[in-house]
Amino acid sequence: MSEFAGRVVFITGGASGIGAAAARAFAAQGARVVVGDVQPQLAEAVAREVNGLAVACNVRDDDEIAAAIAHTVHAYGALDIAINAAGIGGAEVRTADYPQPTWDAVIDVNLTGVFRCMRHQLPVMLAAGRGTIVNVASVAGLGGFPKHSAYAASKHGVVGLTRTAALEYGRRGIRINALCPGFTLTPMVQGMFDAGLPQEELTARVPMGRLASAEEMADTVLYLCSSASAFMSGHALAIDGGLTAG
Ligand SMILES: NC(=O)c1ccc[n+]([C@@H]2O[C@H](COP(=O)([O-])OP(=O)(O)OC[C@H]3O[C@@H](n4cnc5c(N)ncnc54)[C@H](O)[C@@H]3O)[C@@H](O)[C@H]2O)c1
Repeated sequence: MSEFAGRVVFITGGASGIGAAAARAFAAQGARVVVGDVQPQLAEAVAREVNGLAVACNVRDDDEIAAAIAHTVHAYGALDIAINAAGIGGAEVRTADYPQPTWDAVIDVNLTGVFRCMRHQLPVMLAAGRGTIVNVASVAGLGGFPKHSAYAASKHGVVGLTRTAALEYGRRGIRINALCPGFTLTPMVQGMFDAGLPQEELTARVPMGRLASAEEMADTVLYLCSSASAFMSGHALAIDGGLTAG
C-alpha cells in the first residue's frame, strides 16, 4: 500500500496545471485531496476526477483560506500535506516600466498568498506533530528573470520563506521544501504562447531541449512529501531540464 493512502492533501491552485497534476498523482496513491482555487468550475472538475473535495480558496483572502483549511480538517480529520501552488505570471516588461498594480498583485498572490496559507496550515500540523509542505516557487526564485521582476521577486521570496519556516519547525516534525520548476507546459505557459511568444524561444533555452510536463512536476511534489525525502527540509529543488546548471 502507498504511504499516501488515506493521507489528507490540501492543494492551492489545484484546479489547473501543476496543482491539478499533483491532485491526480496524490489521488492515484490513495490520498484524500482537497482542491483549493479561484476557478470553481475547474476545481470541481478536478475534485470529481480525484474523488476529493473542491473549496473556494483565493490566496489573497485570509478568511477564505482559514475556511478552506477548516473545511479540510472538518471533512477529512487532518491536514497531512499542503501544496501551495497557486500563482500568476504578471506583466512582461522591464523593471522601470513594470506597472505597480501588477507588481502588487503578483507579490500578493505568489508570495503573501503562500505566507497566508502557511499561517493557517502550520498550526494544524504543529498540533498533530507532523506535516509536510511544498511551496511551488520557480527557477525564477533562484536567479533573475528579465522582464518578470515581480514574478522573480515573489519566487525568491517564496524560497526565503520556505527556508526560514524549515529552520523554525524542523524540530516539530514538519518538513518544508520549495519546488522550483523550469518551463512547464501548463495553461500559464500556454497563455504566453497564445500571446505570441514562440514555443521554440523557450525550448531553446532549456539544455534538454524541451518543456516539462505538469506530471513531471507532480512526481517531484510527491517525492518531496514522501519518506524518500525524509531528511530534506528547507531545500529549493530545481527541476528544470538543466536550465540552472549554466
Ligand atoms: N508553468 C511553468 O513553467 C512554471 C514554472 C515555474 C513555476 N511555476 C509555478 O507553478 C505554479 C502553478 O502554475 P501552473 O504553471 O500550473 O499555472 P496554471 O495557471 O495552470 O495554474 C495556476 C492555478 O493557480 C490558480 N490561482 C491563481 N490565482 C489564485 C489565487 N489568488 N488564489 C487561488 N488560486 C489562484 C489558478 O486559478 C490556477 O488554477 C505557480 O505558482 C507558478 O508560478 C510554473
